[in-house]
Amino acid sequence: MTEIQQRYKRLLKELRKCEKLNNSKSYFLAQAVHDLRQPIQALILFAEVLKDTPLNEEQKNLAEKIHNSTIEIKELLTNYLDLSKLNEGGVIYEPRHFKLKPLTDKLADNYTIICKDKNKHFNYQTCNADIFSDPILVERILQNLLSNAVKYGKDNISLRCENHNGKISFEIKDDGKGIDAKDLPHIFDEYYQSRKDEHNRKHGAGLGLFITQKIADKLGTKINVTTKKNKGTTFSFNLG
Ligand SMILES: Nc1ncnc2c1ncn2[C@@H]1O[C@H](COP(=O)(O)OP(=O)(O)OP(=O)(O)O)[C@@H](O)[C@H]1O
Ligand SMILES: [Mg+2]
Repeated sequence: MTEIQQRYKRLLKELRKCEKLNNSKSYFLAQAVHDLRQPIQALILFAEVLKDTPLNEEQKNLAEKIHNSTIEIKELLTNYLDLSKLNEGGVIYEPRHFKLKPLTDKLADNYTIICKDKNKHFNYQTCNADIFSDPILVERILQNLLSNAVKYGKDNISLRCENHNGKISFEIKDDGKGIDAKDLPHIFDEYYQSRKDEHNRKHGAGLGLFITQKIADKLGTKINVTTKKNKGTTFSFNLG
């Protein structure tokens, strides 16, 4: 064996060792994030119950802050979990037939509460449709876009689903500041957050849209954006 071959063999061995270490680290991270989400979900429920008990103004305020913060932690953890799955090529696309209305009704219930907490109004319109796709991934897209609409919107957030002869259109709309033309080409990039929000950082990691785009690719659809300064932003996509 020549010296070059020997060095190549040694390097290959080192590489395999690193890959193994990296895989077990990723696995540990994914498992930790997954396990953490369950007690966080319990915290969200406890905070919800606490908010509805007799409290003075200051206590009520604090309970609401605890509630909102735990929801944010859960969203962050969910995004990190999605990201680690994506990095391992592990977001599995499992299409099946499902009814759209129960899925969007559940989301609408959650976002009606979240919007009410933030003194915003949630408008909702859905349709009856049997869809052949992956309901978990469809829900993740809607959740990410709705979470942004609430974060960056002003008073009114809306989710609208329409059935055009079996082709379903989804529209998530807000009435916020809109997205600057210079930010628009980058919003789907990993960890990208507009500098505009720097002083008033709206939490999060800049991962939601990156994940949304990757999931949309899996579902064979494209996320469209229209935005107008101080009027708001609309994200839309089609299925079927
Ligand atoms: N509806 C919206 N209105 C205005 N700006 C938006 C809207 N949605 C996204 N953006 C901009 O695009 C950036 C990227 O969005 P993305 O969802 O990826 O990240 P994030 O919301 O900042 O954090 P995360 O989703 O990880 O919690 C945001 O930081 C924001 O600047
Ligand atoms: Mg987001």
